[in-house]
Amino acid sequence: MTPPTRLNVLTYRTGPDDLLPVVLLHAFPLDSRMWDDVAPLVPGPRNVLAVDLPGLGGSAGPGTSAPSLDDAADAVAATLVAVGLTRAVVVGLSMGGYVALALLDRHPGLVAGLGLLDTRSTADDDGTRAKRLRVAGELESSGTVDAVRPMATSLLGETSQTLRPELADRIGVLIDQQTPAGVAWSQRAMAARPDRTDVLRRFAGPALVLVGDEDVAAPVAAAEHMVSALAAAHLVVVPHAGHLTAVEDPGTVAAAIGELAGRADADDRRARG
Ligand code: MLT
Repeated sequence: MTPPTRLNVLTYRTGPDDLLPVVLLHAFPLDSRMWDDVAPLVPGPRNVLAVDLPGLGGSAGPGTSAPSLDDAADAVAATLVAVGLTRAVVVGLSMGGYVALALLDRHPGLVAGLGLLDTRSTADDDGTRAKRLRVAGELESSGTVDAVRPMATSLLGETSQTLRPELADRIGVLIDQQTPAGVAWSQRAMAARPDRTDVLRRFAGPALVLVGDEDVAAPVAAAEHMVSALAAAHLVVVPHAGHLTAVEDPGTVAAAIGELAGRADADDRRARG
């Protein structure tokens, strides 16, 4: 097994010890900067930070021959412990959601509250898995990120694509700054992930499931599936937003994260008596 890697952390805000920190995990093929608009809007003075997943943003690749989101989750856990966090509200968007689920599965004590945004708990079907492996091969053989460049537009909802084309430019800049090797590793790791719906069934803590009503990649039905498996989930459907709700409607996303963190704080206080 590959030892956990220390990942790059973007600290947006520090906060008092009596409020749980919020840890943000980004989408594919981006990095933590996709949270730039959300982080300052999360209500209250709490600690808000984001972690670049392996091989993306400022994080080195894990150097394993078998890409796995389990390794990504172990690296996130090791990184949080290294910065002094033993419990947090963990919020992941799309691939970040897959990693949040792996973290909950493998390091449940770390997760005081769970935010799943524009993501799914199920594994890929055969067609999606084969496409990911093909794209990973293209990234590696071309030595460019061209194979995923169209995602700068396709991740956005129809409304954003039409009314705010500058968002696609911004996402395109983030994609262009990733390494082909890091993006390919992430594709292969996502292709290998298992169905983690049962992990949700075992989680009794507070959860947020949020989805853009124009999300094609992880549609409302995928969100409803996760809600039905969770004991204490709030569902938020964001109007006129696609797969990148954190970029398309940061205010709504930040408010929902704040509400989740408030529930997690209250649960933790109750548990401490
Ligand atoms: C993402 O936004 O992270 C990707 O759409 C995830 C995926 O390809 O399943």
